[in-house]
Amino acid sequence: MKIRLYAPQTLIIPRAIPHSMSATHILLKNANQVLTLTGDNSVPRTGEGMRDLGIIQNGDVWISHGRISAVGADDGATHDAELIIDCTGKVVMPGFIDPHTHPVFAGSRENELGMKLKGHSYMEIQQAGGGIFSSVRKTREATNDVLIAQAMKRLDTMLLHGTTTVEAKSGYGLNTETELRMLEVMKTLGEQHPMGIVSTFMGAHAIPTEFHGKREEFLNSMIGLLPTIAERKLAEFCDVFCETGAFTLAEAETMLAAAKANGLGLKIHADEIENIGGSSLAAKMMAVSAEHLVKTSEMDMRHMAESGVIGVLLPGTPYSLMMKEYANARKMIELDMPLALATDLNPNCWTESMQLIISMACYQMKMMPSEAIVASTINAAHAVNRHRKVGSIEVGKQADVIILDVPNYEHIPYHFGVNLVDTVIKAGEIAVGGP
Ligand code: NIG
Ligand code: FE
Repeated sequence: MKIRLYAPQTLIIPRAIPHSMSATHILLKNANQVLTLTGDNSVPRTGEGMRDLGIIQNGDVWISHGRISAVGADDGATHDAELIIDCTGKVVMPGFIDPHTHPVFAGSRENELGMKLKGHSYMEIQQAGGGIFSSVRKTREATNDVLIAQAMKRLDTMLLHGTTTVEAKSGYGLNTETELRMLEVMKTLGEQHPMGIVSTFMGAHAIPTEFHGKREEFLNSMIGLLPTIAERKLAEFCDVFCETGAFTLAEAETMLAAAKANGLGLKIHADEIENIGGSSLAAKMMAVSAEHLVKTSEMDMRHMAESGVIGVLLPGTPYSLMMKEYANARKMIELDMPLALATDLNPNCWTESMQLIISMACYQMKMMPSEAIVASTINAAHAVNRHRKVGSIEVGKQADVIILDVPNYEHIPYHFGVNLVDTVIKAGEIAVGGP
């Protein structure tokens, strides 16, 4: 397989992309299944809509000037295609959208695995100076160049595994200088890497040790960054870690209200380890999404369903926290909550693969393969406000399309732990693989 990589230190394979691979007119021909995800995509999907993949058997997808120009059953025509990719026996679908990641950080925390195996909890490790605090120390010390190079490598891996848009959160700076630096790094990543990046300000990720006993002062310092962030368009969303040991419900509300007043969309890390009311706060504040939701009650789910809050479920997190419990996706779908899936890529839960997350969603949360795919494409696009641009294969949309070497979509969760992606097309350009 020919691979185009973007991280400077991983350029072991020359960028030998034949001229034809950036063709203006591309035909993806005769896929076993094209998962179009067409339909009323003005709102995120719920209930039965989460199982509708809009499948075309033996389908063709035409791409012109970076956009989808036609989709339909294969009729043998090739017209003016400059590049034809034979998709016989394969699945063509929209690129995965990963709507919850923390991809900019320095260092790693594999040492915490042993601590977890000895029975120490996530918050115990953090209180002992590990966890988020360990990543904050290393991130503050790292230069922008180091942060960019390391994040680029993660974005390359995501692209190789079929992800074409990611949401990226700050939150390993926890001071004015490094929080802004993280957001600037994300901006650079968006300019230099083909991955679509949606930035989220998460200054309220933890109270840094130097603000011990001065919680209000810290929160105010992060709130104080909002006008600059809004003015410089450094983030589209604001997120808060609403959890015992992080931020209280009242603090989360204060932060999110300030973010809303500055024009940012709202997200919240809620009910990950304990339920302190974060997901119902998301409903009250009309947040775009509430994320994690392992401990969410049925009442919270009803509140979110009524307000149209998207539940972003992250099965990699309970997995890496060695929890027995996962989010109750079946109940959420039954109550008509729209669901999305994400990796939560961070130094505690390190995976770049949405394919693995889709598999976990099916095997651990009992989502149907179709529901998991809707949650990783069009609903994930809604969670990052990109549903008009990406998330489905519809005429006029940006051509973010992947080809998987699988005979049908059920194969994606079923054949797990390997990369099933054959080709990635980002905005009409072949980024990975090819004919
Ligand atoms: O979503 N829970 C809070 N934030 C991240 C983890 C951050 C970290 O442990 O570094 C999460 O799981
Ligand atoms: Fe997270």
